Amino acid sequence: MPVLEKNNTLDLSKLFLEDGERARRLALIDGDWLLDLSRLPLSSAQYAALPALALEAGLPDAIARLFAGATVNPSEGRPALHMALRAADPDAWPGVGKGLAADRDRFLAVADNLHSGRTGLTDLIHVGIGGSDLGPRLVADALDDGSAGVRVHWLSTLDGRRLDRLLARLDPARTGVVVASKSFSTEETLLQAAALRDWLGVRFADQCWAATAMPERATAFGISASQVLPFPDWTGGRFSLWSSVGVSAAALIGRQAFDRLVAGAAEADRVFSSATMNQSLAMQLALMIHVLRRHLDAPTLGVIAYDPRLALLGDYLQQLLMESLGKGVDLADQHLALATSPLLFGGRGTDLQHSIFQALHQGTDTHPLLLVGSLDAGHARPDWHRVQLAHLLAQATALARGRDDSQPCRRLPGNRPVALLLARRLDPVTLGYLLASFEHAVFALSVLWNINPFDQWGVEEGKRLAGRYRRQLDELDSLDFDHWLQLGQRGMTEG
Ligand code: F6P
Repeated sequence: MPVLEKNNTLDLSKLFLEDGERARRLALIDGDWLLDLSRLPLSSAQYAALPALALEAGLPDAIARLFAGATVNPSEGRPALHMALRAADPDAWPGVGKGLAADRDRFLAVADNLHSGRTGLTDLIHVGIGGSDLGPRLVADALDDGSAGVRVHWLSTLDGRRLDRLLARLDPARTGVVVASKSFSTEETLLQAAALRDWLGVRFADQCWAATAMPERATAFGISASQVLPFPDWTGGRFSLWSSVGVSAAALIGRQAFDRLVAGAAEADRVFSSATMNQSLAMQLALMIHVLRRHLDAPTLGVIAYDPRLALLGDYLQQLLMESLGKGVDLADQHLALATSPLLFGGRGTDLQHSIFQALHQGTDTHPLLLVGSLDAGHARPDWHRVQLAHLLAQATALARGRDDSQPCRRLPGNRPVALLLARRLDPVTLGYLLASFEHAVFALSVLWNINPFDQWGVEEGKRLAGRYRRQLDELDSLDFDHWLQLGQRGMTEG
């Protein structure tokens, strides 16, 4: 394959002028999703040769091992079988044992009761962080149609003001709590759960659920065994949306919609595990990121949502990509000489046009972008939706094509890589398909880069040091700048 040289000098406008079919030639339609890579500095020959990279890296065998329950997370000695959580018959999945179907029915029954209002609870507080927050929050935000019989409130990082303001307007007699934590040991989650336990008082036992892979820790915390919604420990936190961690999202959008989300993800599993190397959205997303990171040497990637329903997609993908691919050693524990995870940033399209796009158009650095939208509006203002789509295309065009001007300060250099990801419509099925496709894109990249995408040892040292600093802070009668500087000084020299 003609390898892309670094600091690629291809002129995008020229490529489009030379090939009137470029947009079609460099676009993939996979089901209800279109991924348009025509504004990446790739010749059509290079684009056509991308799947060979996946074959050379042994993707087909690696995918087969993943789906067969092989130990694809060697540092923790675990498989990664989040696909089993969304299978029609999870218990039939090789290597998972019995109980998954019953676990899923249990948490969906809880969700259904909450959604319908039959529990008498008007509000549900979901407390969790990272993978125990980002996926469910995204799904809830994207698919909430206002029909739920319960309002859901999301708590993640410690924020005393937010908690006090929330509890001041809620009735403990009508409020449920979901403590979502795979480990049931995350400090931020447990501190807030303890405050909610105190606030609920005697109602805690009946109105608090735990979504966790550590049921015994949840019961030790005081949550009734009958209120524990378990999932297997081979479920990675950032892959746990499909487990009981999704119960609050299911309570908001309804069981039927959550079932459709899961079905969409299961279809992505089918396509990814059966398609040839360039026919799945997952594989094309992986090859796109591989080209941007390894060939164009871009250390950043922006995911910008031009559909407000996907406003939280960037936050979700930050963890999924950066916690999975932000590694420095390969599977043989050798230092990686080549780049891995980009820094991923994101947000809402036209908001960011009023903040960061100036730098994206004229700044000295190139930040590749993935602009995401949907052909359907999802609301009753089609004119607003057409404005969103017009901005999406306008930004993509201006970034790629640039603009000449007699005044240098008015010139746009162009040739800034921008990919477009468009849904035919955004609904639970297509959203589930998208999220599972990104999960598989991450796995495919881990194979291309020979790294373990399922562990996250890099976050442990910070947790250890925070515990030590917390004990030192707890011992202080007061805290001023001098104390602060002493703590920092000591911290750099003590064990
Ligand atoms: O960020 C580290 C991490 O372990 C994530 O992988 C995980 O999603 C998050 O913390 C929360 O962990 P838990 O679900 O165990 O509370």
